[in-house]
Amino acid sequence: MKDNVKVGLLGLGTVGTGVVKMIQQHQEQLVHQVGCPVSIKKVLVKNPDKGRDVELDSHLLTTDPYDVINDPDIDVIVEVMGGINETRQYIIDALNAKKQVVTANKDLIALHGSELQKIAVENGCDLFYEASVAGGVPIIRGLTEGLASDKIQKMMGIVNGTTNYILTKMSKEGLAYDDVLKEAQELGFAEADPTSDVEGLDAARKMAILARLAFSMDIELDDVAVSGISSVTQEDLKYGATLGYTMKLIGYAEQENNRAEVSVQPTFLESSHPLSSVNDEYNAVYVYGEAVGETMFYGPGAGSLPTATSIVSDVLAVVKNMRLGVNGRNVLAPQYNRQLKEPNERFAKYFIRLHVRDEIGAFAELTKLFSNYSISFEKILQLPLEEEGLAEIVIVTHKASMDNYQSVLSEINDLDVVRAVRSFYRVEGEGTK
Ligand code: HSE
Repeated sequence: MKDNVKVGLLGLGTVGTGVVKMIQQHQEQLVHQVGCPVSIKKVLVKNPDKGRDVELDSHLLTTDPYDVINDPDIDVIVEVMGGINETRQYIIDALNAKKQVVTANKDLIALHGSELQKIAVENGCDLFYEASVAGGVPIIRGLTEGLASDKIQKMMGIVNGTTNYILTKMSKEGLAYDDVLKEAQELGFAEADPTSDVEGLDAARKMAILARLAFSMDIELDDVAVSGISSVTQEDLKYGATLGYTMKLIGYAEQENNRAEVSVQPTFLESSHPLSSVNDEYNAVYVYGEAVGETMFYGPGAGSLPTATSIVSDVLAVVKNMRLGVNGRNVLAPQYNRQLKEPNERFAKYFIRLHVRDEIGAFAELTKLFSNYSISFEKILQLPLEEEGLAEIVIVTHKASMDNYQSVLSEINDLDVVRAVRSFYRVEGEGTK
């Protein structure tokens, strides 16, 4: 029975600072939870002389990661430095040194999670990563503990705050994508290089982690089909709003008979869907379980203290396992072989916006193409365009298979009446399975 749990921190940026503050300010509660004090023993930093928004003795700081990893007094290593290759090695070395590890690093877990978990188990250590998806939202424990008895059929996640902020501003204030992105960067909400956020890679990493856990299947990052929001226009949002839709960057994961599909793409949601009212930088994950039905996990997806909440809760979980002597012993190997749905097994509704020649028979040509691929129209909107003789047409289909939808998209430009396909998006309907 330990009389003091010692934590080593790798990184002292925004999140690391939050972890130190949580441990200092919630100490009484931590002692109540685990029966002894939890304290910071050593912290890896790049520059020990940098001014910081936290009180920490300077003798705790080091620039050598192995001062933290090899410190015999340290029980738990908290990795909040980010990065992939170097960080992966530090975590492997920490696990081989029999340290418990808590990380917030979604990039690392999405790419190397299975390998690291295996090394953790071999060493009788925990590797927890609640903060890697949706910051302060306890979605990973929600899936692996709260919903462990159920069969998860579908998840839809707004798991990137930057893109949710941009789409919310574009929708509510009628601003263009580039203008909102610039403003978000000035306010510090968006990174100087926003590529991984706006092109959907950040969300894809998080969805790979969630799908792996929810479906108990070794889903890989490359299995996630990704498209981002950088080409979403005001026209798209206005036509969507006219039809009752709100645009969100949705991470979509579904399994049926243990065959899965996972994607990240800008999606029109019907206003009745619970995710349609998740705005600004907030995150949420909608989970549909066979027995429980609909659930939703909502909250801050980033930020110093929200992310630190998940990290320090992981530290508590590690310490409780230390008390029971079960670290690394309750990790389940995936139950199912990785099987992905083929395009003809993936169904969705789609929004397609076209410019067409406004002439007799134009609609008949469109109808013929869609009916050749057994796709039926659910909603249609037509408005004249300023350019003489052209019309804007928006079609929302009933559910169609992805292969038929892709065939329509590849042939639609060949129709004489079609001037241009302006945009196309997935549509998700009412908030039920
Ligand atoms: N860049 C991420 C986001 C931060 O915008 O949500 C949290 O992972």
